[in-house]
Amino acid sequence: MAYKIVEKRQLVPDVHLMNIEAPDVAAAAKPGQFIILRIDEEGERIPLTIADYDVDEGFVTIIFQEMGKTTKQLAKMAAGDELQDFVGPLGKASEIEKIGTVVLVGGGVGIAPVYPQARAYREIGNKVISIIGARNESLLILEDEMNAVSDELLVATDDGSKGHHGFVTDLVKELLDGDEKIDRIVAIGPPIMMRAVAGVTDPYDVETIVSLNPIMVDGTGMCGGCRVNIGGETKFACVDGPEFNAKDVDFNLLMSRLSLYRKEEMESLETYKK
Ligand code: NAD
Ligand code: FES
Repeated sequence: MAYKIVEKRQLVPDVHLMNIEAPDVAAAAKPGQFIILRIDEEGERIPLTIADYDVDEGFVTIIFQEMGKTTKQLAKMAAGDELQDFVGPLGKASEIEKIGTVVLVGGGVGIAPVYPQARAYREIGNKVISIIGARNESLLILEDEMNAVSDELLVATDDGSKGHHGFVTDLVKELLDGDEKIDRIVAIGPPIMMRAVAGVTDPYDVETIVSLNPIMVDGTGMCGGCRVNIGGETKFACVDGPEFNAKDVDFNLLMSRLSLYRKEEMESLETYKK
């Protein structure tokens, strides 16, 4: 079965949005889950957290950054082209409940998976404060969309070109030091950012959830590729996660495992470019 790309657009340099025709996946998708796609028979499988889904139109939205061979190849595809595989929804859905005030933190491309969560938290009556950050203004994605689903939206850029001059973690700390009671924080972005958010929230004893993005192969708990250490126990992000309590995550192990195949990834990219 093939999965048609019904829309493709570039959001900011190197970051693209695609709507993929996959009615069964769209019908079952929940915030927090992911899909694994494969461009063609020889292709590598890549996991991507679901950015949105439309049950009536039967499509799933993915947002990805051009990094390695596969994402560069994907970025060259256009509306009307087809993907070989689009498997999902995989992983556990986020536990979205009415708890009060929730802070959603998205860093860089991590803003994409935060968006459906912000919307879902707000829909059931939580107060949603969103913090989004990027290296600079021209790399900031989904600002209008996040604004529409948040009671308050705070922006940070590393270079100060928009909003707070600094990291998203500065704004998390400001909120925690303020008067408002925060009931939960959800942070998604590069592992270094999630580790920093976990460090900031730790002394405040506020539940902090992160979404992990280890290397994945089968996505069904069989290959062990996505193993992570959570509170001293080995877990598989694809079936036990991808979301975990930040204070339990061994971020150093996650980061070292993510860099394990960097040499092979670079070689594959170089061969593809030739
Ligand atoms: P980036 O490097 O541009 O960083 C985005 C923001 O994160 C920064 O603007 C800053 O506010 C914050 N940040 C970065 N380093 C920080 C630090 N040391 N301390 C505090 N805050 C920090 O992000 P990018 O290039 O868009 O990130 C891509 C990464 O996000 C990839 O590694 C990708 O795998 C990951 N990602 C993860 C998920 C997920 O589901 N976990 C989803 C999408 C992307
Ligand atoms: Fe294979 Fe999770 S991706 S066990």
